[in-house]
Amino acid sequence: MRIFTTLLSYDHGILRQVLDVLGEMVERNSWEQHRDVLPEVVDFLQRFMDQYHHGKEERYLFPTAPPGEADLKEQIDDLVREHRQAKDYADAIEEGVARWDLDVLRDNTGRLVAHMQHHILEEEDMVFPAFDGVMDPEVDMSIHEQSQRFMEENFGASFQADMEAFANKLQDRVMGKGVIKYGP
Ligand SMILES: [Fe+2]
Ligand SMILES: [Fe+2]
Repeated sequence: MRIFTTLLSYDHGILRQVLDVLGEMVERNSWEQHRDVLPEVVDFLQRFMDQYHHGKEERYLFPTAPPGEADLKEQIDDLVREHRQAKDYADAIEEGVARWDLDVLRDNTGRLVAHMQHHILEEEDMVFPAFDGVMDPEVDMSIHEQSQRFMEENFGASFQADMEAFANKLQDRVMGKGVIKYGP
């Protein structure tokens, strides 16, 4: 694997960890019990998932697809549409938390979890390997450096570590301490 897709896969590990916990909250319908952490969940979805992770894919990875790769280009168009859909779910969840509408919260969290689990698998199984096959190592290094600057300038140098710590904290909080970590 290339550096850039490897680091995006690492983000997927953090995302999956939070999505699995959210799936559990949907199952248990335990919103009241975890009401105080939901604003942080919203912040994670808006900033880590949408602005940071989807932002990096759209700004740095997807534009490197060679013009002749028609299938890959088509897959990218689908993935970008899926990013917009994920953002819509995140907005609806934010709204559900703000208005404390548990139906809106449960429905949209359930949809987001299924949607993103599918989206991540598609990237891991098909799209990232396709990029690895055509990516020039110099381009790989260059987009890696650009995306590091993107993170530091927009989210702060400790953002990745902070979000990883949040994923662990949320998991301990909802699933109980001592559950084996299955993050990245
Ligand atoms: Fe994506
Ligand atoms: Fe992704």
